[in-house]
Amino acid sequence: MADDKLFSPLKIKNFSLKNRIGVAPMTRVSSPGDSIPRKDVLEFLVRRAQNEVALVYTEAIVTDYESAQGYPNQSRLLTRRQIDAWRPVVSAIQDAGSVAVMQMFHCGRMAWPEINPAGRVIAPSPVTAKQDNPLTGQPYTVPDEMSCFDIEHVINGFVETAKGAVEAGFDGVEIHGAHGYLINQFLSAYSNKRSDDYGGSDENRFRFAKEIIRAVKPVIPDDRLLFFRISNWGVADAAVSLFESKEQWQQMIHYLDAEPLDAISVSCMNYQDNAFGTDLNMAQLTREVTEKPMIVCGNIFDRASADDALKDADIVLSGKSLLLNPDWVADIRENKPLKPRTGAEADVAYTAHPLP
Ligand code: PHB
Repeated sequence: MADDKLFSPLKIKNFSLKNRIGVAPMTRVSSPGDSIPRKDVLEFLVRRAQNEVALVYTEAIVTDYESAQGYPNQSRLLTRRQIDAWRPVVSAIQDAGSVAVMQMFHCGRMAWPEINPAGRVIAPSPVTAKQDNPLTGQPYTVPDEMSCFDIEHVINGFVETAKGAVEAGFDGVEIHGAHGYLINQFLSAYSNKRSDDYGGSDENRFRFAKEIIRAVKPVIPDDRLLFFRISNWGVADAAVSLFESKEQWQQMIHYLDAEPLDAISVSCMNYQDNAFGTDLNMAQLTREVTEKPMIVCGNIFDRASADDALKDADIVLSGKSLLLNPDWVADIRENKPLKPRTGAEADVAYTAHPLP
């Protein structure tokens, strides 16, 4: 192919990605007690790097010990033991010629009291998702509206976790501002009903994300990366558009564009879907307001969909396809006929079964 963008290198700062393919951050909820993922879960990431994936994300790592966790058995990167467990994994990913990025998040109102050591559920406003929590079969717990003290404490959790990632040798850190978790809850008027400086206008709803980015940035050495992920959908009430218009989405991207970020990751259910009643998809709407490197995911499962997504984005991520198929990059290179994988197939990720 004359202009093979998918297999061309991409320079981001001092890094050169060997191709445009990344393994999406995917939780495996495999870290009981010590918040360290199971050995085979870590080995899976190394295997994907050895099989040509250029950008390898960790699963979403929860930040502070008080209220960040939203699912059982999630991972953390704060203690010496946790850092030591990740260090050889990161080195092995780098030895395979890939870039290793730690993704970190706080679940906010998606948590429930028993899941966090301090029994707290916090969010911008005391408003729950409308659907029940599929893990408990109960309505979500009404969260405490975050005080200024809570906001500072949570920001500090992101900073400390980023320090853990730096210490473990990660090439970069991603702040997870997507999928209806805490940062996304502040960005969206669907969950943010505050009347102080953190709610109301677009600028105010962006403030919490901005404060996290600016607090984390100084602990990331200049030769490492800082990414931010955003989406218009959340894991609960999944059909709701979290931003009200194209203008509101683009305003948020415009704010992100002004921050010291090395890439913006746009998570889509299906990258092809047109958004906000326009004839453009999320990547196209995002590209209209930023020249930063853009990462996109959502139903990218074969060569044609990867090539198509790269018309607007710089990097494509795959979750399910890379989870289930260790040879996905080689299969894409050979343009093998491939099918989208289903959520039911991917459920194997939550069993004790080691993945291929
Ligand atoms: C998500 O980003 O959707 C996500 C992150 C961590 C989880 C589950 C879902 O444990």
